[in-house]
Amino acid sequence: MEAEFWRQRWQKNEIGFHQDEINVHLQTCWQKIEVRPNSTVFVPLCGKSLDLLWLRSQGYTVIGIEISALAVEAFFVENELTPEVSEVDKFRRWECDGITILEGDFFDLQPGHLSGVETVYDRASLVALPPEMRKAYAEHLFKVLPGQVDILLVTMQYPQEEMSGPPFAVEEEEVHTLYHDHYQMSCLDTLDILEENPRFRAKGVTHMEEKVFLLRNGG
Ligand SMILES: C[S@@+](CC[C@H](N)C(=O)[O-])C[C@H]1O[C@@H](n2cnc3c(N)ncnc32)[C@H](O)[C@@H]1O
Repeated sequence: MEAEFWRQRWQKNEIGFHQDEINVHLQTCWQKIEVRPNSTVFVPLCGKSLDLLWLRSQGYTVIGIEISALAVEAFFVENELTPEVSEVDKFRRWECDGITILEGDFFDLQPGHLSGVETVYDRASLVALPPEMRKAYAEHLFKVLPGQVDILLVTMQYPQEEMSGPPFAVEEEEVHTLYHDHYQMSCLDTLDILEENPRFRAKGVTHMEEKVFLLRNGG
């Protein structure tokens, strides 16, 4: 999925992935991963997710990255936040009260951009990317994250032949393949989400599950 594809999705307001509420897994699973209080959390491919606000409300400093300027602007406007905007390397950096969003391409991130990050909250990034990009995504993530960083990862799986992505189906085996060199993986939760997503049922999807993984960095 090229940058232009996502910019267009935002322009056409085709953002079915956006949730008007805080992600339920974030609220139920976060305490299981023992994140250091007041530390920094990275949210890749963050859209205008309200989860950024929830993490901030828990005391964390939050860094997101998002390629669509429209999404970034919408996040601050809709939440009545007035950001300071500056240019940093290839990014436009929007910052307000402990929430920073780097507007730009995830693949342009360099290690220095994420210094201080201790945890990653990753919802719907992998499923936004076609298979060949997912490997590059995981490898780039390993390259830019500092030190030992755990990841709370939310993905979905469904019979891929029933619908073309995005969202793409990401099977548990693939998560293992992508992360097992660096991480120990445990599945914290599995939720049937077909009922609440009639648009996927209408496309012929017969079952769909959301999965939450804790990826513990082995160092
Ligand atoms: C499926 S959405 C998930 C958004 C968010 N995580 C959420 O839970 O609402 C994927 C997002 O990634 C953004 N995106 C796609 N490719 C990107 C890239 N290479 N760098 C930064 N953002 C990207 C898209 O614009 C889109 O907002």
